[in-house]
Amino acid sequence: MLNKINPWKTQNKPSSLHERIDQIKSQEVPSHIAIIMDGNGRWAKKRSLPRIAGHHEGMKVVRKITKLANQLGVKTLTVYAFSTENWKRPKREVDFLMKLPEEFLGTFLPELIEENVRVKMMGYKDKLPAHTLKAVEKAMDDTKDNTGLILNFALNYGSRAEILEAVNKVITDSKNGIIEEETISEELFSSYLMTSELKDPDLLIRTSGEIRLSNFMLWQLAYTEFWFTEVLWPDFSEEHFVEAIEVFQGRQRRFGGV
Ligand code: FPP
Repeated sequence: MLNKINPWKTQNKPSSLHERIDQIKSQEVPSHIAIIMDGNGRWAKKRSLPRIAGHHEGMKVVRKITKLANQLGVKTLTVYAFSTENWKRPKREVDFLMKLPEEFLGTFLPELIEENVRVKMMGYKDKLPAHTLKAVEKAMDDTKDNTGLILNFALNYGSRAEILEAVNKVITDSKNGIIEEETISEELFSSYLMTSELKDPDLLIRTSGEIRLSNFMLWQLAYTEFWFTEVLWPDFSEEHFVEAIEVFQGRQRRFGGV
């Protein structure tokens, strides 16, 4: 009998990562994977390090997982790098987090370009420091013609604000005759969200044992498969990513049907 939660527990699981990757690629690979990268602070605390050390280690994991996702044929990888609520953190931590995109892109952009990765961002740009925005916009521009994986940074992103803003735009466009009230459908509404050019995520991964959405892609995750792990984000490995996809491939998606 197939175990629904983790089919690999009851099947012959190939042993090496390489074999597991080949097996994954022979089946339907999730087109869009979204990740809530949680547990950086706890990772650092366990090592008596400042919280920012955990974020720095977490940044390296983003690079590793981006490379693998691209190799697997995933089309979009959305990573929750900073929420609209994260401004409440101590200034030192916020300042560090706002410098990370520059460091990440300063270090890895040439490799991302070589791998045909396209960098995108969703979130409120207005509150971002100029240096952060400059780095992200340069990366978006430098990679705009790339056709491989889309690495989509959720940066100063909040889902309720996104939905509310979309509602207001729909109302305005309807009042101005740009859209007809009768044509307001799920599809049309989706086109007003920050993800208008992306498919909804097929798989959501959250690390660190927290089982919540934390204001992340509330509309877009309606039919997404969820995979949670106790592993802290800086410890998240290629094997964990592969495991999440293996579990996804063993699930039956019905989208409300039978
Ligand atoms: C949540 O862990 C993590 C964040 C708020 C930041 C996530 C950012 C990264 C992983 C760095 C990647 C960034 C780039 C630009 C590549 P937490 O700090 O809430 O952890 P805790 O719950 O253990 O305290």
